[in-house]
Amino acid sequence: MQANSVVGRIFVSRSGQHKALTREQYNLFTRTDCVAIGWYWLMPSHALRRNKVIPASIAGRELAVFRTSSGEVAALDAYCPHMGAHLAEGKVDGEQLRCFFHNWCFDGNGNCTDIPCQKAKAPRVVSTRAWVVRERYGLIWIWLGDEAPAEDIPIHPELNGKSYQYSLGNFFIKNCHPNVVMINAIDEQHFHTVHNLPGDVLNMEPRRLTSSHIQFKNTGIVPATNVIGKLIAKFYARELTYKLDYWYGSTGTVTLGPDFMHLYLMFALRLSASGNTEGYAIAFTRKSSNALVNLLINPLLILLTKLAGLYFAQGDTRIFNTIKFDFKTPIAADHAVLAFIQHLEKQTPFECSSSNA
Ligand code: FES
Ligand SMILES: [Fe+2]
Repeated sequence: MQANSVVGRIFVSRSGQHKALTREQYNLFTRTDCVAIGWYWLMPSHALRRNKVIPASIAGRELAVFRTSSGEVAALDAYCPHMGAHLAEGKVDGEQLRCFFHNWCFDGNGNCTDIPCQKAKAPRVVSTRAWVVRERYGLIWIWLGDEAPAEDIPIHPELNGKSYQYSLGNFFIKNCHPNVVMINAIDEQHFHTVHNLPGDVLNMEPRRLTSSHIQFKNTGIVPATNVIGKLIAKFYARELTYKLDYWYGSTGTVTLGPDFMHLYLMFALRLSASGNTEGYAIAFTRKSSNALVNLLINPLLILLTKLAGLYFAQGDTRIFNTIKFDFKTPIAADHAVLAFIQHLEKQTPFECSSSNA
């Protein structure tokens, strides 16, 4: 007889029953005092113009984020290492940021390059923490981790290395943890109950691709037994692929469609200071070698992707607004959610600090 075991942090009894743990017992899943080390969106690119500095906060860290005169973005710990003035009160000076209080100057790596009142003396070696930031999909992203980034910003696997067009959606807030929003897209039962998909259409097969990346895939025919099924069957008479890719339990990509025309949607989520979700949805489409397709067809595909996203978001918002997530009774149909939790639990936590110490 098999002994009881713990797979990741999910208890598996001898009978094969899954028993999820309470929030306090997880390493990462639904916790509000840490996040998985990884990339998180920090702000939309359009919020930061050239030669401007603005304050930002994420994972309990206060930051001063600035765009240099050449257009590069840098993020430093907010409080000046001299006396603690907020660096977002300062101003951008070429490629550097100058503190408002005594005008010390810092480059994008956080090194102090100028102390105006001490020019005659040998420069003092002073620095502040610089965070790794990159711009992608109309967002500025930050690497939350103490080591250099181990990987690039997530992308739909099928678009990796390909040319694509994208459209950044509106900012949204959900009244629950980002992990809870993420598991919704692999919650097989609710596609039938909340989104009215006919029959037992889903069986999300998990595949762990890297330590931070897990993929769930379902390929099947949607039975045309109700209105939604008939509508889907009009577009997808043959097999329909529904694929989810997740990183850090917070960024996910949805790929929908038969092989000749995939719709691509990304959800970039992060934990808010109040423990809820702040996010953006980004619609993508592959760029064609035909400029007319890019100009006329691709915007329609992006619109279609957004409409599909909105349809599913509608039903889910009711859940997210009022749920008090407590996964007390996992059943076999929750197998994909359990695989998500197990994968997330193996990732490394980055503590949400209340100070920049
Ligand atoms: S506090 Fe920033 S230069 Fe003095
Ligand atoms: Fe949903």
